Amino acid sequence: MAPILEFRSVSKVFFKGDTRIHALRNVSTEVEQGELLAIVGPSGCGKSTLLNLAAGLMEPGLGEVYYDGKPISGVNSHVSYVTQRDNLLPWRTVEDNVLLPFELKTRSRMPVGERKERAQKYIDVVGLKGFEKHYPAELSGGMRKRAQLARSLVYEPDTLLMDEPFGALDAQLRLVLQAELLKTWEGSGKTLIFVTHDLTEAISLADRVIVMSTRPGRIRIIERIELPRPRDVFSIRFLPEFGQYFERLWASLKEDMHQGADV
Ligand SMILES: Nc1ncnc2c1ncn2[C@@H]1O[C@H](COP(=O)(O)OP(=O)(O)OP(=O)(O)O)[C@@H](O)[C@H]1O
Ligand SMILES: [Mg+2]
Repeated sequence: MAPILEFRSVSKVFFKGDTRIHALRNVSTEVEQGELLAIVGPSGCGKSTLLNLAAGLMEPGLGEVYYDGKPISGVNSHVSYVTQRDNLLPWRTVEDNVLLPFELKTRSRMPVGERKERAQKYIDVVGLKGFEKHYPAELSGGMRKRAQLARSLVYEPDTLLMDEPFGALDAQLRLVLQAELLKTWEGSGKTLIFVTHDLTEAISLADRVIVMSTRPGRIRIIERIELPRPRDVFSIRFLPEFGQYFERLWASLKEDMHQGADV
């Protein structure tokens, strides 16, 4: 099967005054349709940059990024993106934030009633029923993440990009949201690319885990996670194979620690 997303020898340099920042160097990888790919790596190694390239929000300096066999040019309308920074609009309620993608996608011809039904479906999926008329400032951090997730699902995109979506949440809530995410994803046929700092989270969720090196970001290793599905994120970490994956991936991540990562 042809890959849905391809990075071909991608390099990216940012310029800040006279300073050049090599964010990515010669990154090549493919993402299969329907795959759940996790990306881990030290801070500043170019994880968000990879997602920005996939979303078509920026272009590589060298190399190409392909989506569904075609080079990405301009915003990639096949993907939804839960960005690292919370970007709910503060003057809109949860419901109106979740409805936003329909307004941004000019090709959406869905009638208003149907849009509202769809918004309600995903508000329910993420567990925000009853909070439709609340504003972001009236929500907890976890609820804001749920609202962002609902907004990214509402258009039922083929591919979902998530950048440390549960990073700021406490451990229990993370587990709950991981379980909900897996339930929504498993069997959907959708592609999911998930950036995280948390190796346990990456192994629990993913079909494959990519470990990146410190800047300039390169792919250190790619590990296929052959743990059975459907997965129970609460208990999967106690399987002996889990520990073996953790050890291998940790050994690779650790190599960068003594070099000191950006924060
Ligand atoms: N728009 C930009 N302009 C200038 N420099 C940038 C820009 N975006 C990213 N960078 C730089 O590129 C490098 C990679 O950034 P990126 O945000 O991709 O890292 P990251 O792996 O997502 O880090 P973190 O884990 O902290 O989120 C960093 O050094 C960052 O300062
Ligand atoms: Mg980032």
